[in-house]
Amino acid sequence: MKTALVCVSVSHGNTRRIAEQMAPILHAPILEPEEIDPAALADYDLVGFGSGIFNLAFHPRLRDFVRSLPEGRPRRAFVYVTSGFPPRTHPLVQQLEGKGYQVVDTFACRALDTWLPFKAVGGIRKGRPDAADLAAARAFAEKLRDRP
Ligand SMILES: Cc1cc2nc3c(=O)[nH]c(=O)nc-3n(C[C@H](O)[C@H](O)[C@H](O)COP(=O)(O)O)c2cc1C
Repeated sequence: MKTALVCVSVSHGNTRRIAEQMAPILHAPILEPEEIDPAALADYDLVGFGSGIFNLAFHPRLRDFVRSLPEGRPRRAFVYVTSGFPPRTHPLVQQLEGKGYQVVDTFACRALDTWLPFKAVGGIRKGRPDAADLAAARAFAEKLRDRP
């Protein structure tokens, strides 16, 4: 199963840390959107799309990338996300489905959040992702790898 992880992680590297746990289990490269030709993603059987949440939405670089994907043969995808609060994943899932992806699962993790209202106190969810979050990311990847 040829797998890739598309990752935008700009704030604290939180999402990247999650991707780094999944990558060796899935034998997947971690790619910034600008590093891949959108058409080349068609070569992958499974693609993970991940970023933090910014002003209630996935990072615009990730959303723009998904918008640029050609519609192709049915493929599988998953979404992974880090955020201060429980995220709304539905908009990205819908965007991916519109491109012909079957979104098989979602991984969400609370993570250090220094959005303006929380900056004064040094952020919230300090210390996260923590060891338990990273273990959960590995378990998620193992479940994906072992799916029939
Ligand atoms: C400008 C800004 C806006 C943010 N907006 C939200 C938000 O709307 N909801 C939320 O739960 N977290 C929000 N966060 C927290 C980030 O989603 C969180 O820190 C995430 O882990 C960042 O991922 P990254 O380090 O991989 O970029 C925001 C953070 C910043 C800096």
